[in-house]
Amino acid sequence: MVTADEQRTVLVTGANRGVGLEFVTQYAARGWTVIAGCRDTKKAQDLQDLAASDSKITVEPLDVTNVSQIGALASKYDNTAVDVVINNAGQYGDLDRQSWGSLDPALFHEIMDVNVIGPMKVSEAFTPHLYKGLDKKIVSITSFLGSISSVSKSPSTPFYAASKAALNMVMRGIGKRLEDKGIAVVVFMPGLVETRMLRQTFGLPLEEAEKAENFDYRDLPTITATQSVSGMIPLIDALSLETSGRFLNYDGKEIPW
Ligand SMILES: NC(=O)c1ccc[n+]([C@@H]2O[C@H](COP(=O)([O-])OP(=O)(O)OC[C@H]3O[C@@H](n4cnc5c(N)ncnc54)[C@H](OP(=O)(O)O)[C@@H]3O)[C@@H](O)[C@H]2O)c1
Repeated sequence: MVTADEQRTVLVTGANRGVGLEFVTQYAARGWTVIAGCRDTKKAQDLQDLAASDSKITVEPLDVTNVSQIGALASKYDNTAVDVVINNAGQYGDLDRQSWGSLDPALFHEIMDVNVIGPMKVSEAFTPHLYKGLDKKIVSITSFLGSISSVSKSPSTPFYAASKAALNMVMRGIGKRLEDKGIAVVVFMPGLVETRMLRQTFGLPLEEAEKAENFDYRDLPTITATQSVSGMIPLIDALSLETSGRFLNYDGKEIPW
């Protein structure tokens, strides 16, 4: 007999590392079919290894800034019902290029492309697939830095913070737009997760931030990607039209807009 989990399909963006890779791992372990999008499928060794051990994971090229690639992926899965879309891919951006005194507009455009327009276009392209799905949920990974009412001092990464506030607004709007079609949305702060992005916040260049071993997160209350995703998945399971449109921490606590 096919279980409820085995009937479900999830699309994950930025699936090759960090929080995204963990979503793939945990949904696949439950028996879901996983469409795992990543920018460079050849370099995505951990994801490829995972897919090699589970035929329900398919690795797909997906740069969320590439509108034609998003369209091609949506067409490829034309006849597939998708239950959950997870907009996880994100960029923090170089600290120097968003520091007061050396703000680089080109970086702001790049970050907005990845963190805001990408999730918008992926959600738009996969709306027909979600209509066919049993669950009909759009999940986006944001940050507490996108909480306007929580700003206590000027963020050191204003471009990143602004992009996450914009993502929150966009997703709230998509929730309103699609509620009569049965689609529920949520935005999650995943916690301070021990990933490349969190190591970037210490000012490390991207390549250095990739090295995780023995990294000292100082006194930050960090969690692992496993803890983060284990917190979010039951909340995604419980998401409904009645609870749609919220900004939640990975442990279910509400975050003010
Ligand atoms: N870690 C934290 O403490 C923390 C806190 C708040 C929010 N977040 C959010 O959590 C999400 C996951 O981040 P993470 O912590 O797992 O960081 P990460 O390890 O740096 O992973 C980021 C992922 O996004 C992908 N990505 C970047 N640009 C992309 C593009 N144009 N198209 C497709 N994929 C792209 C990366 O792919 P490549 O490997 O190809 O670069 C990578 O897979 C992000 O949205 C981030 O803003 C994280």
